Amino acid sequence: MKSPLVDTDQILAEAVAAVGKAADFHALEMVKSTYLGKKGKLTDILRGLAEAEESERPKIGQAVNLVKEKIINAIDVRFQILKTAEVEASLKLETIDVTLPPRGQALGSLHPITKIQRILVDFFVSMGFVVVEGPEVETEFYNFTALNVPLHHPARASSDTFYFDKNTLLRTQTSPVQIRAMQKMQPPLRIICPGKVFRRDSDATHSPMFHQLEMLIVDENVNFGNLKWIISKFIDHLFKEKVEYRFRPSYFPFTEPSAEVDIKWKVGGSWRWLELGGSGVVHPNVLKAVNIDPKRYRGLAFGFGIDRLAMSYYGIEDIRLLFDSDLQFLQQF
Ligand code: DAH
Repeated sequence: MKSPLVDTDQILAEAVAAVGKAADFHALEMVKSTYLGKKGKLTDILRGLAEAEESERPKIGQAVNLVKEKIINAIDVRFQILKTAEVEASLKLETIDVTLPPRGQALGSLHPITKIQRILVDFFVSMGFVVVEGPEVETEFYNFTALNVPLHHPARASSDTFYFDKNTLLRTQTSPVQIRAMQKMQPPLRIICPGKVFRRDSDATHSPMFHQLEMLIVDENVNFGNLKWIISKFIDHLFKEKVEYRFRPSYFPFTEPSAEVDIKWKVGGSWRWLELGGSGVVHPNVLKAVNIDPKRYRGLAFGFGIDRLAMSYYGIEDIRLLFDSDLQFLQQF
């Protein structure tokens, strides 16, 4: 429509040209508001209708609406063109090279305790030992009484041991497996038992849950010298003879004589002794408790902390680090 007041054809031509030139969504948005917005050219015309002749008004109104529709159409078309161009550009940028090798899968690794345990178990199995396991929830009988631990012994106290009730507890040592094994197997026997044990204790060298490796030989004509030889052999095997350790006389209710073994452990730059565990010749009372004749047979046993071996082996300064599930720490091994 062309009149002295309004030239909608001119506006349409201008708008369509501007839409065609809009190079991106922002420019298109600007064109849209220039022509269709509240302060846009078409809105201006509608606002000026009052000044037009009354007979002209409907015609102007219709013409404006028609132009508006055409501009909207032109914007839609332009929008689609811009959109398609955008998608094509990003497809070009983000091309996938299907010939590239895939990103590697992050592999887990064995826990240091598992590693040490496997080396030890392999060693003893190669020497003819049988691996046996026992329950972690034990009875007071297997954990203490059958092992000749007197009723007043401090290890029995609830300040040291996790009890479920008077007779049921979390085993504080793997030694009860000795009793279970001797009840089932006839001598001569050679067993090892790796497993979790539990005590109310927590500091740099103690954790409420830790691991022990129990060893038991029952045979005729075996002696403390044989026990010492076996212990030396396995430590030398694990550490490739590069660690110092010592035997120290000690006392356990279930062995006589008894010895503790300490190993060198590096903490804060200096070497210290770290107690590995106990060993000894099985007390006659323990053999009697499982109907083995102590005059004919002798038992040799030890129970060592696998975690402590790992601490010395890898130079770990706090046992609790082993159980924090901190991947950064664990990935070092
Ligand atoms: N069970 C003892 C502890 O946890 C260690 C031990 C000492 C085990 C002497 C043995 C042994 O088999 O003969 O402290």
